[in-house]
Amino acid sequence: MANLETKYLGLTLKNPLIVASSGLTKTPQKIEDCEKAGAGAVVIKSIFEEVLTQDASKIEQSIEAHPEAYDYLLSELELQYGFDEYVDLIKAAKDKVSIPVIASINCTSEHYWPEFAAKIEEAGADALELNVFSVIASRRKDSAEVENMYYNIIKKVKAHTKLPVAMKIGSNFTSLPNLVYNLENRGLDGLVLFNRFTEPDIDINNLDLKTTFTFSRKTDYHQILRWAAILFGETKIDLSTTTGIHTWESAVKLLLAGATTVQLASVLYEKGVEEIHSFNERIEKWMEQHKLNSIEEFRGRLSFKKSHSPQTYLRSQFLDKLRNIE
Ligand SMILES: Cc1cc2nc3c(=O)[nH]c(=O)nc-3n(C[C@H](O)[C@H](O)[C@H](O)COP(=O)(O)O)c2cc1C
Repeated sequence: MANLETKYLGLTLKNPLIVASSGLTKTPQKIEDCEKAGAGAVVIKSIFEEVLTQDASKIEQSIEAHPEAYDYLLSELELQYGFDEYVDLIKAAKDKVSIPVIASINCTSEHYWPEFAAKIEEAGADALELNVFSVIASRRKDSAEVENMYYNIIKKVKAHTKLPVAMKIGSNFTSLPNLVYNLENRGLDGLVLFNRFTEPDIDINNLDLKTTFTFSRKTDYHQILRWAAILFGETKIDLSTTTGIHTWESAVKLLLAGATTVQLASVLYEKGVEEIHSFNERIEKWMEQHKLNSIEEFRGRLSFKKSHSPQTYLRSQFLDKLRNIE
């Protein structure tokens, strides 16, 4: 029988399918449902920095009259404004399930997270995923400054916790391999490629702005396929992939490209978490058909470095493909 066991962030997962941070992992009950459906691990719904920073500004306003209380109140912020609940959620999840539970914090700065990381470790999480994103809208910030923010976050978080730490990033970097190299040198253990964001839109009837969010589509995995393949062998960091993995076939493709694990959200919203069972069954059957006993036997086999036609991952096929359409 094929063995789907996978190592991710130093943890042993019974298979490489992770339920991505989302509403599917926001309560202990839902996390237990994910385990029952056969998930290898879960990433809990993120706690968002914005919540805390807004709270911080409220506190700042409310304590003008009592400046001596400021530091104290700030240090208690998480207790009064939701962090406590997050810690309780981690503890309750750990009581309920035996699969690894990865906590997730959504950071836009390096300010708050190192201390929270330590508390997340105390609460019993098995690992930490940092969902880092900020839109740069100032010409005064160059790419080095932006990348330094990523480096500082990981340096500081690693100084405050012994937990393995993964970073979930967007895809827009000038040199992703260089960014990853620098993150690895600062102690990063895992990289999640890539986050999906809400996007801005304009309501032309009310002449106003709005925010949109849609589930991914099953054709959205090609970008993560490219980058898992290019980064495999370039870094020792574990590569986890997310966005557009809707079928067991795309999960297999990502493992062949070099991903250690695949994270699912949209497909599970659309079909239910039980879909994980069928992914596992089909992957196992595929491995047996190809006489593969373990994931390690084929992981990265079609990566940029190992495949016979690595150029496919670059741009050279582009013109040929377009010519066929024209
Ligand atoms: C409803 C919903 C809520 C999400 N919330 C979070 C979140 O709190 N933190 C996070 O890092 N990603 C969040 N995500 C992103 C998912 O973790 C995942 O990376 C993304 O949806 C891409 O995977 P998919 O194509 O399978 O949906 C959310 C996604 C969905 C659909």
